[in-house]
Amino acid sequence: MNRPNRYLRFSLPRRIEHWLQTASFTLLAITGLPQRYMDSQISQSLITWLGGIETVRIIHRISAVLLMLLVVYHLGAAIYHWVVDRGRLTMLPSLVDLRAGWQTLRHNLGMIKEKPKQGFYTFEEKAEYWGLVWGTIIMILTGFFLWNPITAARFLPGEWIPAAKAAHGGEALLAVLFILTWHFYHVLIRHYNPSMFTGYLSRKDMEKFHPLAIEQEASKVSLPKNHPAYQRRRRVFFIAYGILATVMLGIIYLFVAAEQTAQSPEIIPDLQGIEIFSPLTPTPFPEAASPLAVYQGETWDEPIGEMHASRCGDCHNIQNAQSNLDLTSYQGALRGGDSGPAIIPGASGVSLSIVWQTGHDHPGVWSPLEIAVIRAWIDNNAPEN
Ligand code: HEC
Repeated sequence: MNRPNRYLRFSLPRRIEHWLQTASFTLLAITGLPQRYMDSQISQSLITWLGGIETVRIIHRISAVLLMLLVVYHLGAAIYHWVVDRGRLTMLPSLVDLRAGWQTLRHNLGMIKEKPKQGFYTFEEKAEYWGLVWGTIIMILTGFFLWNPITAARFLPGEWIPAAKAAHGGEALLAVLFILTWHFYHVLIRHYNPSMFTGYLSRKDMEKFHPLAIEQEASKVSLPKNHPAYQRRRRVFFIAYGILATVMLGIIYLFVAAEQTAQSPEIIPDLQGIEIFSPLTPTPFPEAASPLAVYQGETWDEPIGEMHASRCGDCHNIQNAQSNLDLTSYQGALRGGDSGPAIIPGASGVSLSIVWQTGHDHPGVWSPLEIAVIRAWIDNNAPEN
């Protein structure tokens, strides 16, 4: 009840909605952020504490459904307020807000003394509300891609899924930091305002922070609830909103049921025959590549012989043949030294020049790339020219 000294700012349904929103937001954050920062110790402890990653994912999804139901409800409440109660759309941004923003900036810079007169919602509160709306749209859309990647990839290029993942995590972090700083600061620290929990703000505060709303209050005329016109509006609303809500609930159902989770074994048959692209970062050394694949027609004359002469020739030539090995000629390399042929065409795995390079503590080591090229050459039967 509005008493002379207090002002009903948030009705009970609004407050319940805020509690549910708080619950869904908190649950989404504590089950979502650890999935994004899964390497951190805190995340891992949190996931264990919540009962493991599978449980965390399920809680995340249930909270997401709660969030979507709140959207359906909120839309209904807003339309009811506008169409049936003919209330003001106090959340819509207007020129007044632009002016209030500009005046607040000048006030904060000490250029003017007066603070702007604001309405039921200040421009700061509106910015926050629309930020939440925008964030919710982003989270629901990108959340759909992550929840139903196969369905999403039927309609959109596959790159959208990793992009959605990046946007989902980025927006989540932004939202959490925003609530912890801006929202908490504004309602709890800068000026303690518990009206979202108690429902009321003192008249004094209302006049101080929302003077325009008090001025408008006087001019407000509303129909009594039993007036036939009011009743008619209600009926029209419930029919129209009933249809809208059914469509939206149908979309939520699709969201949840469109496909099995990416982990389910049932979907694996679906994936057969599809080439799966999984980039490896960092790019592995060419060593790991198949030697045959690296081969591009190299011969001893060009450039394998030169690679031996420059890197091995100082110690393995005719005059100075360590272990009787001469690596300055093709024949010398095939003949080999005391332990056997340095190069066995077709068998890089047992060719001593490779074996000594990779396994032994031996001078003149080629780079991994050079070894890959020489192996490929040997495995392609080591052509001389
Ligand atoms: C600084 C001198 C030096 C350079 C450069 C050098 N080696 Fe050697 N290499 C030796 C010595 C000394 C031995 C004998 C080592 C031993 O028996 O323990 C040897 C042994 C070998 C053997 C074993 C020969 C056998 O039959 O027992 C192979 C194969 C070999 N080198 C290949 C190469 C290759 C290929 C290169 C060039 C990438 C190379 N070496 C560069 C000094 C060198």
